[in-house]
Amino acid sequence: MEYLFLFICILNFSYSYKPVVFIHGLMGHSSDGRLINETIQKLHPGTPYYAVNAFTRLDTILPLWEEVEIVKPHLRQYMKAHPEGIHLICYSQGGVVCRGLLSTLPDHNVDTFIALSSPLAGQFGDWKLFHKLFPNFVKDNVYKLLYTKFGQSVFLGNYWKDPHHLSLYRNFSNFLAPLNNDSISANITEYKQNFLRLKKMVLIGGPDDGVISPWQSSQFGFYDDKEVVQGMAKQRFYREDSFGLRTMHGQNRIRIYEIPDIRHSQWVQNLTVIQNVIVKALS
Ligand SMILES: *[C@@H]1O[C@H](CO)[C@@H](O)[C@H](O)[C@H]1NC(C)=O
Ligand SMILES: *[C@@H]1O[C@H](CO)[C@@H](O)[C@H](O)[C@H]1NC(C)=O
Ligand SMILES: *[C@@H]1O[C@H](CO)[C@@H](O)[C@H](O)[C@H]1NC(C)=O
Ligand SMILES: *[C@@H]1O[C@H](CO)[C@@H](O)[C@H](O)[C@H]1NC(C)=O
Ligand SMILES: *[C@@H]1O[C@H](CO)[C@@H](O)[C@H](O)[C@H]1NC(C)=O
Repeated sequence: MEYLFLFICILNFSYSYKPVVFIHGLMGHSSDGRLINETIQKLHPGTPYYAVNAFTRLDTILPLWEEVEIVKPHLRQYMKAHPEGIHLICYSQGGVVCRGLLSTLPDHNVDTFIALSSPLAGQFGDWKLFHKLFPNFVKDNVYKLLYTKFGQSVFLGNYWKDPHHLSLYRNFSNFLAPLNNDSISANITEYKQNFLRLKKMVLIGGPDDGVISPWQSSQFGFYDDKEVVQGMAKQRFYREDSFGLRTMHGQNRIRIYEIPDIRHSQWVQNLTVIQNVIVKALS
């Protein structure tokens, strides 16, 4: 009997990978994480896996603070069921939503935040869906629509960062700008405290993405006013450690992967990335 108990304990111990929660991107759905789940189950059998099936498809064009509030109770429920901590895998726009979640959940127990090609420092570039949604605009003039009160009721307005109109960006962006302290935020101290509860952050992106612009935004880099990309360490929010990025970097808590030959839609489909980068980051 005692031996059996010991055996079960050892078995439990060796298979106790932390649960994984997947958060989809723009126009996405919980099923977008299917191959990630399958691969996790193959390599780390028995890992609890959740995909938040809320705020899907067309809902994802609504304001991101709304998405944060809708996803929050789901995340709270998973965290409560797993006090040992969870991992978050957030794809594309989902990574920006996760920034909002991690900044406003004072008691979160997220261990590792994996951002899979997310516009973490903002977006300044058009792509196919952009032209469908904003047929009368191009990247150089869409600020006229997005930097308005109306523009903030649209997903893209929340993280659009036009390097030629930063004053308007600061005045209007009510999601990314306060989270990155690009605009003065009454809650920045609290955002930082909450975000720093994370143990590790894994930033994945690459030059052939085709949607995230600049692609380095997936690693907190962004355009300067001459549209030259400046890396994470050159950003004001890094230098001032506005939300804990410099602290985490200094403590070796950030992993950065630059992977070529992957289109934006392929990040959740490519087995090489899923096996060698994503699942490897999970423990
Ligand atoms: C994850 O994969 C397992 C094993 O195939 C399956 O039983 C489970 O339903 C999947 N979970 C989700 C949320 O899709
Ligand atoms: C942003 O707001 C400030 C303060 O209200 C104002 O002085 C400034 O002109 C605004 N910037 C733009 C580009 O509208
Ligand atoms: C600050 O946080 C409080 C409580 O979470 C919230 O009600 C308020 O809207 C936030 N203010 C800003 C400026 O983000
Ligand atoms: C946020 O930005 C303001 C200036 O806009 C600055 O005074 C403050 O120190 C910054 N806070 C953090 C935590 O970076
Ligand atoms: C997956 O990604 C790797 C690494 O970038 C690339 O070499 C490979 O061609 C991709 N596989 C598929 C099926 O797209």
